[in-house]
Parts: sequence; structure tokens; C-alpha cells
Amino acid sequence: MDEQTSQLTDDLSSDERDRRVLRLYEQVVEVEQRLIPTGLHVFGRASDGRECADLLRMVASFERPEHGARALPDLVSEGLGFGAYERLLEGRGEEDWRRRERVDAVVRRAVELFLEDGAGGVCLWLEREAGVAAAGSEKIFRLLARVRGRLEASRELDGLARALRGEYVEPGPGADVVQNPDVLPTGRNTHAVNPYAVPSRTAYARAEGVVRLLLARHREEHGRWPRAMALVLWGLDNIKTQGEGVAQALWLLGVRPVRDRLNRVTDVEPIPLERLGRPRIDVVMTVSGIFRDLFAATMTLLDRAVRRVAELDEPAESNFVRRSVREQVEEEGCAFDEAALRVFSNAPGSYGTNVNFMVMDSQWEQAGALGDLFVTRKSFAYGRDGAGRAVEGREARGAFVRALSRVEAAYQNIDSFEIGITDVDHYFEYLGGVSKAVERHARARPALYLSDATTREARVRSLEEMVRLETRAKTLNPKWYEGMLRHGFRGVAEIESHLTNTFGWSATADAVDEWVYREVAETFVLDREMIERLADLNPHSARALVARLLEAEGRGFWRAEAEVLERLRDIFAGLEDRIEGAA
Ligand code: BEZ
Ligand code: MG
Repeated sequence: MDEQTSQLTDDLSSDERDRRVLRLYEQVVEVEQRLIPTGLHVFGRASDGRECADLLRMVASFERPEHGARALPDLVSEGLGFGAYERLLEGRGEEDWRRRERVDAVVRRAVELFLEDGAGGVCLWLEREAGVAAAGSEKIFRLLARVRGRLEASRELDGLARALRGEYVEPGPGADVVQNPDVLPTGRNTHAVNPYAVPSRTAYARAEGVVRLLLARHREEHGRWPRAMALVLWGLDNIKTQGEGVAQALWLLGVRPVRDRLNRVTDVEPIPLERLGRPRIDVVMTVSGIFRDLFAATMTLLDRAVRRVAELDEPAESNFVRRSVREQVEEEGCAFDEAALRVFSNAPGSYGTNVNFMVMDSQWEQAGALGDLFVTRKSFAYGRDGAGRAVEGREARGAFVRALSRVEAAYQNIDSFEIGITDVDHYFEYLGGVSKAVERHARARPALYLSDATTREARVRSLEEMVRLETRAKTLNPKWYEGMLRHGFRGVAEIESHLTNTFGWSATADAVDEWVYREVAETFVLDREMIERLADLNPHSARALVARLLEAEGRGFWRAEAEVLERLRDIFAGLEDRIEGAA
């Protein structure tokens, strides 16, 4: 930082300084605006006012053609004479930022007024303050009124009691609440999607933009298209997004879904190379056990897409699937069927990678063990062979390793603002696990990307950026940890688990900056008052947190100064004594 600061003042041109300050400003706003959970959900308790305002603002930020409602930021931006809000989002100049801030402030205030006075008052206020015709804003506020009513009516306890009595529980869709507010009220019996309709037309359309951003980013950073990518596909995510992950795989391969008259996706059709404007990317799909169980037809479709692309008579430099398959057939003398396997999951009846357990239990000596475990768990192939016979969970370690050995980038879609990459252990077990497996077999760590399907501005971030963002917006954010600490015992466990999940990204992908550990240590352990609070509420999690910081130091994920290390060890010993009743 010091070095950067002196550079800032000494040798930068004023243009460059402005550019850097603006970039810093963008990052601060990004952290500030990120929607975070400010406490745990308490079963049966409805959202409180603050949470309600944030959620409603997010709901209002999307176009809702099904309700005939336009997005509130669009209406405000146009009303203020700034033109399309989309353009402000794309703009990187100071004036764009100023205008964007103004629009966001008006939207924020409008939602507050709506919560205070209802829809009538706010429509008039918007007309006066921002030139938005009431006829234009009425519809979105009518939708917000409905969403608000449903947020305040929790049916969870009633639904649970009914289920336990063996009574009928009304069904409802499962999705992200912002993407589809019809999931409310909660407490209903979540139904899935028709797996034959996946990917939906909307999911396929949204995936195009995300894949374009993803490939552009890789090309910008590495100077070329990735030859092969590994994709993580989860079941619940593809239910929630109606198959955005599946659609992204299809776009990477350069194919479109073909639907029958009942809207079932029965086949794929290659998009001509001239239209695609880039090579077809080779894609290895590492699929969760839940996805495999829920989307059998989709597994077959993905496998068929790979085979179809591998068979196209196209130049090697435009069709990386064909190139890889042909090379493998020639070099190894194996069958086309073997060389075209790209859809992998667990053995039938088995779930998960166990990489998370190995990390959490500190059960690995060399990092390669994590990649080996991932391969052992996920090397079962699914699809159909050339004769049309089903391949359902045949162990194909050689084919999996060969496919992974070509991977240059790995990617996963984040589908919900409620759960991010440090909230649960599953992101690092999958994306981190596949990264470690690639590192072992391609001899280089792949570039790792995540996309955020939770905001209207689709974003692709590197894993490192995402870890920084999650750390700033959650783990080290007093709004987040004080919200957790209000839950007492469980809150401390959440803080500890965030650190452990972050540690998982060091273990699997070396994607965590040292300052993360240093600041976690300063915030939660070296601050006497804070460690006392944690120890009073939950000494076991407090001890686990200090132990994890020490383990991270021991494994070289950060370097602590001798006296810091000494203090951490003392505090750990004190917590041990306290738990054992010796202090
Ligand atoms: C899934 O929906 O596929 C999934 C859920 C939790 C952990 C991992 C995968
Ligand atoms: Mg779990």
C-alpha cells in the first residue's frame, strides 16, 4: 500500500491518477452496494424492515415484463433526463458515476417512502422529484406491494406443522427471490422445473451475454481463447435459474437447443461458426450428484452436444472439441466414444467430492491429495455411446484425467445473492476441487472465474476478486458480523465457518491474499474485547477460528510476525484451558 501511495503522489500523470481513483471508487461502491445477509434466517419469522427495503430495491431493479412493469432505475434515469440506465452502467466516466449515484439515491429513497406511505404517495413524489410519470411507476409499486405482503406473511411454521401431520402443503416454485418473487410466501412445498424444458428460453438468452463476457475476459488476460474449460453444474442452481449453467455449457460449445412442439429440448443444433464469431470451446462438465439425479435427460443432452460438435467437419483452430477428440484418438488409439466423454459425476448413488471434509479436517499433507480425491469421486462418465447405449456412471478415470489435462479455465455460475463462495463449503469443494485436479494433470492452475447472475449487470469475476469482495462485504464487515453475533452461539460458528471456507480457497486454489488472514486475526482475535465476546458466546468456535488462523500460517497461506504468532498461540491455549475448565 505504501509503495502504491508514494507512486500515486510521485510519478503518475494526473490522468493515470484520476483513472486509479475512479477505479478505487468503483470498488468501494461495489462493496457498499452488495446485498448481504445481516443475520441468519429464523424459521417462522418474517423479514424485518431493513431487509425488506433491500430486497424490494433489488426486485424493483429488474424489468418485469410478466407484470408489465419496467425497472425502477430505468424509469428514474429516463425521468431525470439521463437516458437509458443501461448506458450509465456501462459508462466508466466520472459523469456516468455521478448520474448513476443520483439514480440510485432516488430509487433508494423511493423504496423507503413506499414502505412509509404506500404506493400512492411515492408515485407522486417520483413525478415531482424525478419526472417519472405516475402511470409508468404504478405497476412496479403494485408488484412491490404484493411482494411486501408476502414477505410479511411467513407460512413456515404452519407449512412444517402441516407436513408433519401428513397434510397437504401448497406447492411453490424454487428460485432466487429477486429473480422470481413468486417464490414468496415461504413455507410452501418447493417444486422443481420440468427437466425437459431446461434450459428455458430466458436462461439461454441470459447465458449468451455471460459467456461472451467470460471468454472476453479470458482472452484479454491470456491473449487467446481457452482451449478447454471445466464447468461446475449444480442441481438446485439449475432449478432456480431454469438451466443457466446448462445454457452456458451449450453456448461455449456453440450450439442451440432444439425444442419440440411441447417445448421439450430434444436435441441441439450447431450455431454456424460465422455467426458464433469465435472457436467452439472444449468443455468438461463436473456435475453434482443432485444434478445427475434431477436432470438425467439434460446429462444426455450435454453429452450429445459434445459429440455433435466433435463430429463437425471444421478446422481445428475453430473447433477445439474436434481437435482434442481427434488428437486423443490418434495418440492413444482409443475409440471416439471414449475420447468424447465430457460429462462426469459421482458413482451412481454417491454425492459430493469430500474435498471439503479433507480440508476442514486438515487431513492432507500435499495439496495434490485434494485434486486426487476430486478425481476419484468425480470420474464417472454419463451419456450415450456411439451406438446409442446409455453410459450411466461408468468409471472412466483415464478419460476424465485426459479431459482435465487440457483445461485452461474453470468456471461456476453464482445464482443467488443469499449464498456466496465463502458462505458454504461447497463452492470450494467443487470449483476449488476441480482447479486442484486440473493443476495436477495440466501442470498449471487454471484461470478461475465466477459469474454473478444476481444483479442486472452481469459480471464475471476472477476467483481472487470474488474472495476479496466477499471478505470485504461480509467477513470483515461489521454490519455482517454484528448481525451474526446477534444470534449468539450460532453467529460465532458462522464467522468461524466463513474463515474456514476462505481457507478452503487457499488450500484448493491459492486464491486468498495474505491481508485477509491478517485482518481476520486483527478483527476477531487480537482485539481483546472481540475475542472475549466470541469466547463467551461460543468458546468452541472461537478456538476453532484461532486454530484455523494458525493452521493457515503454518501452511504458508500468510506470514504473521513472531509476536502476532505468539499472541495467537497464547489466546489459543487460553481458550483450550477455558473449554477444559482449567481457567
Ligand atoms: C446441488 O444442488 O447440486 C448441490 C447442492 C449443494 C451442494 C452441492 C451441490
Ligand atoms: Mg451442506
